[in-house]
Amino acid sequence: MAPRTVILDCDPGTDDAVALLLALASPEEIALEAITVVGGNVGLERTVSNALALVDLAGAGVPVFAGAARPLLGAFVNETRVHGESGLRGAELPPPSRVAAAGIAADRLRAILRDAAPRSVTLVAIGPLTNLALAFATEPACLSAIREIAIMGGAIALGNVTPAAEFNIYNDPEAAGIVFASGAPITLVPLDLTHQALATAVRIEAIRAAGTRAARTVAGILSAFPPSVKFEGKGFPVHDPCAVAWLIRPDLMSGKTCHVAIDTTQGPSRGRTVIDWWGTKRAPNATVLNRLDADGLFALLAERLARLP
Ligand code: RIB
Ligand code: CA
Repeated sequence: MAPRTVILDCDPGTDDAVALLLALASPEEIALEAITVVGGNVGLERTVSNALALVDLAGAGVPVFAGAARPLLGAFVNETRVHGESGLRGAELPPPSRVAAAGIAADRLRAILRDAAPRSVTLVAIGPLTNLALAFATEPACLSAIREIAIMGGAIALGNVTPAAEFNIYNDPEAAGIVFASGAPITLVPLDLTHQALATAVRIEAIRAAGTRAARTVAGILSAFPPSVKFEGKGFPVHDPCAVAWLIRPDLMSGKTCHVAIDTTQGPSRGRTVIDWWGTKRAPNATVLNRLDADGLFALLAERLARLP
């Protein structure tokens, strides 16, 4: 099978780093056309610098485009609590050798989609959805070029930044509303799946044993996650690589088609993905994944990280 043409939109971010390296190590499945960056886990200046440094770590040359520094509405919220002030807690990377490519992320998304054949480009969104929303809202015709949008975000059950909301959606609910109403084919990778992807000590050491600088960097990141009572000390969940792994080994996951709505009210459920799991009313607009072969995911990570420098 020919590799998919992919644009990865991210907010690196520790788990974004693992996802980005997995994508860069998988050229048989993923032809990474561009990396677009959004403010999220940390501010945009740092997420851009982190993306550039990670591309260097992989020995790649994929262009990186800076995007939205803040959500469409409301205040910017970060997640330094998990990712550290640098956004890459546990990683020691040299300053990037390059600067971001000219132009903004939403314009690059539109330009690639505008020139692409119908249903030929896959978007992987693992941060707040502001860049995608800006592209779709300003040039809806570009939607026809989208093969699939794989989104890490949302939750069938509880959120992780409020009881109702997961961080990527909570950071920009209006943007998520635009994306989920776009009609583009969406595969959602929510917390209910990613909370199965726990970076246990055994899994971390298997990654470290891959022996490359990239593998050691990922092992350092996974080892530096803050302890969390939510997972009985077994390990911290690695969310974003699950969305990339879906494109490489879809057999590792399963779920069902559902309608997904986004709560954009200003109340306690703001940013909630209202997922109609039991198919009560509205026609499905997404495939929601809820089951993961976690051992298979971490074996894939160790195998692919061994390919990098
Ligand atoms: O809720 C998890 C998501 O929020 C991940 O994408 C993580 O990187 C943060 O952005
Ligand atoms: Ca992220």
